[in-house]
Amino acid sequence: MALERTLSIIKPDAVGKNLIGAIYNRFETAGFRIVAAKMMHLSTEQAEGFYAEHSERPFFRALVDFMTSGPVMVQALEAENAVRKHRDIMGATNPADALAGTLRADYAETIDENAVHGSDSVESAAREIAYFFADEEICSRTR
Ligand code: PPS
Repeated sequence: MALERTLSIIKPDAVGKNLIGAIYNRFETAGFRIVAAKMMHLSTEQAEGFYAEHSERPFFRALVDFMTSGPVMVQALEAENAVRKHRDIMGATNPADALAGTLRADYAETIDENAVHGSDSVESAAREIAYFFADEEICSRTR
């Protein structure tokens, strides 16, 4: 199977709890390579643009406020079947529904502040990676 990429964000709640290293360890143990990474404090415009497809949803403003409330760690991850595999290790959007041993079960408390983001399809991953990283910032061994 070909290598695939996905976009991961460690959200302000998890960064605030000093969990970047623990979450990176989960990524690497699961077989992902971190091929690009940056810490950012998103502006309102950056968060609104990233979540534009959800702009009509009732939680949109709360989501933007949360995602701009502190620093985030943004990374592109590479592996076989990366999108699905990353969704699996994140767990369900609502931590109350997340399987034991997933990132959200272990590190998130509420659906509003659920520790991590991951692309939901290969198409979204390409768009989301390009939203944060220029091509030359991707340090894949396959380049
Ligand atoms: S998902 O992850 O796309 O399948 O889930 P979805 O339900 O479509 O949610 C889209 C993003 O909105 C976040 N979300 C919420 N934020 C605040 N409050 C509430 N109630 C809420 N419900 C969903 C959810 O975490 C998704 O953000 P990301 O960054 O993709 O995790």
